Amino acid sequence: MDDNLDCPVLITGNEQSRFLSERYGYKEWMISRFLNFIPYPEKMLDYIHDSKNLHYYIRVNTLRTNPQELKRRLGDKGYHLNETILKEVFEIKNPGFGGIQIKDAGITTAQLNNNEDNDNKDAVTMQKGYDLQSSKDSDLGLKQPSIGSTIEYLKGYYYIQDLSSCIAVEELEIHDGSGLVVLDMAAAPGGKTTHIAQKLNNMGAIFACESNSNRLASLLFNLSRCFVQNTAVLNMKAEEINELELRFDRVLLDAPCTCEGIIMKDNSRKKSRNLVDLETCSIRQKKMIISGFNVLKPNGLLIYCTCSFAPEENEMIIQHLLSNHKDAQIEPLLYGMNGLTSFSKYQFDEKMVYTKRFYPHIHATNGFFIAKIRKKPN
Ligand SMILES: C[S@@+](CC[C@H](N)C(=O)[O-])C[C@H]1O[C@@H](n2cnc3c(N)ncnc32)[C@H](O)[C@@H]1O
Repeated sequence: MDDNLDCPVLITGNEQSRFLSERYGYKEWMISRFLNFIPYPEKMLDYIHDSKNLHYYIRVNTLRTNPQELKRRLGDKGYHLNETILKEVFEIKNPGFGGIQIKDAGITTAQLNNNEDNDNKDAVTMQKGYDLQSSKDSDLGLKQPSIGSTIEYLKGYYYIQDLSSCIAVEELEIHDGSGLVVLDMAAAPGGKTTHIAQKLNNMGAIFACESNSNRLASLLFNLSRCFVQNTAVLNMKAEEINELELRFDRVLLDAPCTCEGIIMKDNSRKKSRNLVDLETCSIRQKKMIISGFNVLKPNGLLIYCTCSFAPEENEMIIQHLLSNHKDAQIEPLLYGMNGLTSFSKYQFDEKMVYTKRFYPHIHATNGFFIAKIRKKPN
């Protein structure tokens, strides 16, 4: 369990990885890695390949409405909402762009790359669907505005957000009226910040860090759209949070990552990332998690998550924290598949099974990783 881990771990390709990378259009290094740690990797590649398997979810904003009322309103407009394991999250069967591919909806890769996060992509895609609807409604067979363009969306009654992202916030153990002080270390465009605000019922306080000033507008827009009134936005690197001399009851680190888990929604990621990107992300994640843990109060909770499959961005980051902070302990999570306890030549802490992984072909979500860490009381 030493912390001297090579990153990224290099895995040699073989005939199978060559065949699969050609068949599905990936860089081979990604496939040779997937074959090593993803359950039923060929099934996943096949599943991701078919856009009919895409799942979309919305989270009800309880600062504005409640699940029954939203279901009724959207039902009246022809949307089909199914319940999920979380009572505030619905799966939406007909999000309103009639099965149009991202490419067909006129969104360029450049636009997508500007969005580092998974959930915002859903919203962008669906808003584009509406543009198309106004011009070519009959061609596309759309019967209602896309779910990213309804009056209810604009009024902040819901947020388009993957189920896995919502589970991460649920695990922060925030209860209504608890008056907690929460740090969101990587906030734009605000999916998880707005979720935390509703969990707090707009009480307590949220400090939302975002280092990229180009992404502040989307964050501020969503905070305002969703009626959030307890959040201070900080345009800074979250690694520097210690300088503010604040301490937090909860810390969320939805870390900037290689986003392997959203290839289904952004095909360009099959080829656009390389091993250096993986290394860069991993280095930054290590710095961020240590900074976040340092400002956590004793007995406080830190949730770390990524939309990546890579152990270098997931279990290895948690191992780095455990190796550097004896007062960090992993707590169990309710949903998902157990985290890896080993990868390549490395063995991780035995409690790494408490961390959870989500896979599109198993959980019908984005690829996602969540770890829950408690700081031991003094
Ligand atoms: C995965 S996205 C966050 C998505 C967001 N939590 C949500 O649920 O909508 C990661 C974000 O971290 C930001 N970021 C990258 N490096 C950062 C840093 N050092 N400090 C703070 N934010 C950072 C990126 O610009 C990006 O907006």
